[in-house]
Amino acid sequence: MLLQTCIAPVNIALIKYWGKRDEALILPINDSLSMTLSTDQMCAKTTAAVGSDFKENKMWLNGEEVQFEDNCRTVKCLDEIKRIAQLQGTAKFPLDWKLHICSENNFPTAAGLASSAAGYACLVYTLAKLYGVQNEELSKIARLGSGSACRSIYGGFVQWIKGEDENGNDSIAVQIENEEHWPNMHVLILVVNDNRKKVGSTKGMQRSVLTSDLLKYRADVVVPKRIFEIKNAIKEKNFEKFAEITMKDSNQFHACCLDSYPPCVYMNDVSHAIIDFVHKYNEMVGEVRIAYTFDAGPNACLYLLQENVADVLLAIKKFFPNDNDGSVEYLKGIPIDLKNKKDENIFNCESKPIGRNFFKYIIHTKIGNGPKSLIEEESLLNEVGLPKSFNP
Ligand code: PMV
Repeated sequence: MLLQTCIAPVNIALIKYWGKRDEALILPINDSLSMTLSTDQMCAKTTAAVGSDFKENKMWLNGEEVQFEDNCRTVKCLDEIKRIAQLQGTAKFPLDWKLHICSENNFPTAAGLASSAAGYACLVYTLAKLYGVQNEELSKIARLGSGSACRSIYGGFVQWIKGEDENGNDSIAVQIENEEHWPNMHVLILVVNDNRKKVGSTKGMQRSVLTSDLLKYRADVVVPKRIFEIKNAIKEKNFEKFAEITMKDSNQFHACCLDSYPPCVYMNDVSHAIIDFVHKYNEMVGEVRIAYTFDAGPNACLYLLQENVADVLLAIKKFFPNDNDGSVEYLKGIPIDLKNKKDENIFNCESKPIGRNFFKYIIHTKIGNGPKSLIEEESLLNEVGLPKSFNP
């Protein structure tokens, strides 16, 4: 048996991808740009193994066996890896050997946090290591799993170039800056209590492409300008500019969702309360210290610099008090030393709390690097190729 185990990061878009020009190849109507989050707090982990005695392809996802052949996007990624391995003659075993794949996320998938991006990036990266496929091809293959997954192939700031080719050959992700460039870029993810079922991203995008005039204007006119501007803001580490573009782009993405017919509603009242809070906070401190962005759900992703994390958390505690505050379950991720706060004045102001128990929990994380291989001991599969978690 030969095996590989790897981890891959989550990425959160600053300039959103929304809308496909080709459904099968997952080709977008506009470029997008994201920041990769550290795998220390959130990542997907995958082990892929091949063996001469494996009878069939098998796959386990978050502890449960899933049907391999039915999972069309996984098969597409695997076929592409095998095709390239054949072409390059890189595999150290016969290509018809069956495969066992075991994959887990170390963060709750129920939180609706970009789990498919990390998952498909990890699958493709792990298979590439196993079959000996070169890295340059990987973002294209990850794209076939889930569009946003192509950006999780790199760390730091990543642009997904939409490309022009009909076959998708130039629709690839490229790294703009690595994670060392702006190392004090931190993130607070506010996971919002919400049980409402949302329109999935595939369906939502189709609906927007068919019915939203605003989306067309966004893709043709607004996004190219914003990509140019945010790349400059990142290069110059201009947080204020970075924050303004990020917030405007999140707002426009959700405006396009509402402009679709019937409308796709992803944010809820708590999301809007967070938006109000961020603008008020920035105004109160007299500079832009927080930027929000929302994907296709109500959870907020707040970007902020490390030196402001303690102050912002104190403000969140004041305006959004929570009965679970103080428990390790409520504040996850990088520990925050509240003694590091800078501004006393904001917390002495008169303002009343906005709402109680609005969040399930908060994750504190930061910018991070791309996927990486782990040592054999980290494998999710045992010596006969079955999930270790199934053992007593
Ligand atoms: O890759 P998908 O199909 O999960 O779509 C992701 C869409 C957004 O998260 C809303 C935006 C983005 O660019 O990640």
